[in-house]
Amino acid sequence: MIKWFQMHLFLDTANIEEIRRAKSLGVISGVTTNPSLIAREDNPDYKAAVLEVCSIIDGPVSAEVLSLDRDGILREARELSSWAPNIVVKIPISASGLEAVSVLSQENIKVNLTLCFSLNQALLGALAGASYVSLFVGRLDDIGHDGMALVGEIVEVFRHYDIKTQVIAASIRHPLHTIAAAKAGAHIATVPYRVLMQMIEHPLTTAGIERFIEDWQRVAKRAAII
Ligand code: E4P
Repeated sequence: MIKWFQMHLFLDTANIEEIRRAKSLGVISGVTTNPSLIAREDNPDYKAAVLEVCSIIDGPVSAEVLSLDRDGILREARELSSWAPNIVVKIPISASGLEAVSVLSQENIKVNLTLCFSLNQALLGALAGASYVSLFVGRLDDIGHDGMALVGEIVEVFRHYDIKTQVIAASIRHPLHTIAAAKAGAHIATVPYRVLMQMIEHPLTTAGIERFIEDWQRVAKRAAII
């Protein structure tokens, strides 16, 4: 169960090896996928791919619908959510998407409203009953907007009204984005595996470990001579 007041890291990938390795670090509590990420893995069996992720990760696993009309979205969402108890249905923001979210929230099906780029879209998602709204920070930065400032504004508005919908900082491109997401108060940052690995590294840590080993080896060599 995700706590409202705690920041979480999700992994933004459909690659099973990356998910296994990240899970073993003990820092990942969910996974987000999207059609592009699934297609990259070249597994023609979508259900099998999603179920494999769910068998590794206990927390929320977002799987996205492809339909654009309300009924199609509802059909896909109900099907996806029947696959495993931790599946969160990812629905792109649109009028039909919001209609579907409001129906699904009555059925206790969790939705991650995705492809959000504005406070209005996030607010509408929360009002319709989405459990999560995903703000694509990197794609906003790409076109010269401050994606993380928007995340901060949304978190502030949600806090002001005690809105329980969780804000996901998505489209994370580098470790500085994760730092900014934490400072902005995002409930979740969903990070690619490469960024997760970069977060571990620091040149002073690497140099420090080398120095400890060298110093110890010098002492050990001297002891062997004596
Ligand atoms: C989020 O859920 C999306 O899968 C993802 O963060 C998109 O990132 P991109 O802009 O790097 O494709």
